[in-house]
Amino acid sequence: MEKRGKAAIVYDSGYGATASAAKTISSTLTGLGIDVIFFQAGQRDLPECDRIFIGSPIRLGRCTPEMKSFLIHHSDKLVDKKVFLFFTCMNVSSDITHCDFPVFADPQFREPNKPKTRSGLMEATHTTSYYLKHLLKLIPGIAPAAVAFFKGRLDTDQLPPLYRFIMRIAMLTMPEIQNGDFLKHETVESWVHAHIDF
Ligand SMILES: Cc1cc2nc3c(=O)[nH]c(=O)nc-3n(C[C@H](O)[C@H](O)[C@H](O)COP(=O)(O)O)c2cc1C
Repeated sequence: MEKRGKAAIVYDSGYGATASAAKTISSTLTGLGIDVIFFQAGQRDLPECDRIFIGSPIRLGRCTPEMKSFLIHHSDKLVDKKVFLFFTCMNVSSDITHCDFPVFADPQFREPNKPKTRSGLMEATHTTSYYLKHLLKLIPGIAPAAVAFFKGRLDTDQLPPLYRFIMRIAMLTMPEIQNGDFLKHETVESWVHAHIDF
């Protein structure tokens, strides 16, 4: 197959969901004839590439500390690349109406007639604009080519005590946050197909 450029995929993942989304992105790109360099944040330096896919779970509205360090450390080298950001999380509502780049939210987040949470603070901190405000501050001057929020995976029994406590409180206040594996590989694949241009 004719080679169509080189892409890097860098991800971080605590419990496998974001790693799994990253693997799907990798196989999708490979299937399109793109050479892929795939690694976890902190494992190596930024390779030569035209496109870079950067993925992290959302934790308390932010990316992981490892991904934060990666972004801060490499932000100047990202300016001349096409940057795609992808995240897995358990709840986000799409509140962005105007944006310079496409922001995709997994259709699983748009549950009709969802019950209202008891806390306005939780609603305000689980939106695409809230997450992006913090994430984009880490890479000033970079407009991503595309951003995606995929519904990920949660198993509170697997978490260390502090995380388990935090997530159980979150589940009590936000009915949308539930244990389960919601990552749909076909959704990830379609997102890649929709945004890769040659
Ligand atoms: C400590 C902690 C904080 C989290 N905070 C959020 C959050 O703010 N918003 C959200 O939608 N999901 C949140 N989640 C859920 C994760 O984003 C979700 O489970 C993700 O798919 C995990 O990805 P991973 O398996 O790659 O670590 C949190 C999970 C943990 C453990």
